[in-house]
Amino acid sequence: MPRPRPAATSSSRASSGPRRAVGAAIIAIACSASAAAFAYTGGWLTPSRLTPERIVDALSMRGGDPVGHRRNHSKGICVLGTFEASGAGTALSTAPMLVRGSYPVIGRFAIATGNPMADDASGRVRSLAIRIVAPDGQEWRSGMNNSPVFVVATPQAFYEQTVAAEIDPATGRPNPQALEHFAATHRETAPFAQWAKTAPWTTSYADQQYNSLNAFRFIDAQGASHAVRWSLVPTTAPDIVPVAALAARGPDFLERDLKARLAKGPLTWHLVATLAAPGDPTADATKAWPPDRPTVTLGTLHVTAAQDEANGACRDINYDPTVLPTGIKPSDDPLLAARSATYADSFDRRTAELAQGNSASEHAR
Ligand code: HEM
Repeated sequence: MPRPRPAATSSSRASSGPRRAVGAAIIAIACSASAAAFAYTGGWLTPSRLTPERIVDALSMRGGDPVGHRRNHSKGICVLGTFEASGAGTALSTAPMLVRGSYPVIGRFAIATGNPMADDASGRVRSLAIRIVAPDGQEWRSGMNNSPVFVVATPQAFYEQTVAAEIDPATGRPNPQALEHFAATHRETAPFAQWAKTAPWTTSYADQQYNSLNAFRFIDAQGASHAVRWSLVPTTAPDIVPVAALAARGPDFLERDLKARLAKGPLTWHLVATLAAPGDPTADATKAWPPDRPTVTLGTLHVTAAQDEANGACRDINYDPTVLPTGIKPSDDPLLAARSATYADSFDRRTAELAQGNSASEHAR
C-alpha cells in the first residue's frame, strides 16, 4: 500500500521560500564565479597581465601587420628533406627518430623579422625550423636560430623588447631611444648584442649553424634525464661578405641562393646534441654553456628541395618547440611555454586570415 503523503504543514510551506532563495543565491554565485574565471582567463580583469595575445599584438606592430603570415620570422621559404639518424642518440633518448634510419623532414628557413617582404639583408637572425616524423607518427618539431644565445631570458623581457622595437609611424623606424633604454635596463642582452655586432655576415642560409638555444631533456631507456641543447652544424663553408655588399644582391638573395645551391645537389647539416654539466643553466637561454661540454652527433639533415612558402608544405605547420616525441621533454626554461602559446596564437591568426583570402604579401603584388 502506498503510504499517504503527509499534508503540507504551514511550517514546511514557510521554509520553501528561504530554501528557494538559498538555491537562487548558489546559482548566482556559481554563475558569477564562472564569469569571473572567464574574464580572468581572457585577461579582462588584469589588462596589464602578459598574455600570448598581447605578445602577438606587439610582434605584429614591427613593420605593418603581417596578415596571413607568421608574426615573427615572417619572411621564409619551405624546404623538404630527410634526417639520417646515426643511432648514437639512442644511448641518451628513446625518441623513435634517433634510431638509426631515415625520416622525412619538412622545414622552413626564415629571417627574424615582422615584415614578410623585408629585405634579406635586414635579417641579422636567420632561422631553420624542422619537423621530423617517425614511422609511428610521433613528431619532433624544433625552431632554431643562428645566434649562439637568445637575446632575453623571460617572456616579460621578450615582450618589452618587442614593444621597444615597434615602428614609430612618424619615422617609419623603431624609436632608437626606446631600444637604447631597453638594452640599458636589460644587461642580459649583452652576449646576444655582442654576437650581432661582430659575427660575420654571409650570403647563404646554407652556411649557418642553427641552435635550439633553449635547453631540453633527453630521457634514456632507463628513465634517466640528460639536459641538452642541440645544433644543426653546416657542412657548407661560409661565404663571408661585408654587410654593405648584401643589399646589392637584391631583397631576396637568400632564397635565390638556396634554390641555386639545391639545383646542384642536397645541402647537409649534422644534428649535434651538447650535454650540460651539473650546474649549467637550463632556464636561461641568454647564457651559453662552456665550449668543452661533450657532444653527440645524432645524425645528418639532408635538405633536397625548396618550395615558395605561399603554397609550400611548411606554410601550415606550427613549429611549436614543445611538440616532442617520447624520449624528449621540455626543460625548465620559461621561454618554452611562452613560445608554445604565442606560436599557437600566431598560427590561429594567420591560418584564419589565409582562409579569408587575406595575405599581406598577396596585396603587395
Ligand atoms: C618568449 C620568447 C619567444 C616568443 C614570444 C616567440 C614568438 C614567435 C612567434 C609568434 C613566431 C611565429 C610562429 C608561427 O606563426 O608559426 C616565432 C617564430 C619563430 N621563433 Fe620564436 N619566439 C620566442 C623565442 C624564440 C627562441 C628562444 C627561439 C630559439 C631558437 C625562437 C625561434 C623561432 C623560430 C626559428 C621561428 C620560425 C619558425 C618557423 O619558421 O615557422 N623563438 N616566434
